[in-house]
Amino acid sequence: MFRIQDLAKIYTRRGQQVVAFETPSLDIPPGQYVALVGPSGSGKTTLLSILGGMLSPTRGQILLDGVSLYEQTPAERARLRGITIGFVFQAFNLVPYLTALENVQIPLYLAGVNKQKQREQAAELLGHLGLADRLHHKPCELSAGQQQRVALARTVANNPPVILADEPTGNLDPDSRTHVLNFLDDLHGRGRTIVVVTHDPSAAQRAQRQLKLRDGAIIEELTAAKVSRAA
Ligand SMILES: Nc1ncnc2c1ncn2[C@@H]1O[C@H](COP(=O)(O)OP(=O)(O)OP(=O)(O)O)[C@@H](O)[C@H]1O
Ligand SMILES: [Mg+2]
Repeated sequence: MFRIQDLAKIYTRRGQQVVAFETPSLDIPPGQYVALVGPSGSGKTTLLSILGGMLSPTRGQILLDGVSLYEQTPAERARLRGITIGFVFQAFNLVPYLTALENVQIPLYLAGVNKQKQREQAAELLGHLGLADRLHHKPCELSAGQQQRVALARTVANNPPVILADEPTGNLDPDSRTHVLNFLDDLHGRGRTIVVVTHDPSAAQRAQRQLKLRDGAIIEELTAAKVSRAA
């Protein structure tokens, strides 16, 4: 799905360079569930944004299904992103004057789904995430954790083959957390490629592979077998 070669994102501030993320190579095969873990500032959001086609690297190449993402025109990259990638941002970016249901309907509307189906599918997704009784609330009438789940529902509404999520369980109580983690397991079971940033060790253990980042580098990799042995 993703193939990264000799990639780096380097910021320069007042003559000083900060390596936000750097790796000689990284492959993420289709259908893999990957967790990115590591302290604040270690480069997790940077890597996720580069994978999502939203942040061009300073050097190196990233292939999405064999297509070099950052050698496309911005319009072509946006098109590829639109059909392939669902992104859950660290800040949720919900439309404030639309209800939860309407926010989740947006991608379905943009894909040309009829109104009745938009409502049914959006309501079903929100139901899976434990929000059946909050369909008609606006973001300001929802808790942070509820907004986060609406954002997740909106991201997956169009069935993108790749889901990139930045701290999707960050604001959640234990029950909602379980809803979201089960939901991601379910998407993984249905063949989606998932990369999730998390500070939560038990959430990271759901993944098949954990990449630990520090100071912009991958310092350790745990595969599913080791993850379950460590549990
Ligand atoms: N626009 C920018 N200009 C300069 N430095 C930046 C910029 N964006 C990020 N950085 C630096 O790059 C490094 C990696 O940032 P990143 O946002 O990827 O961290 P993170 O692992 O997602 O952290 P957190 O867990 O706090 O979200 C940090 O040291 C940060 O200060
Ligand atoms: Mg981050």
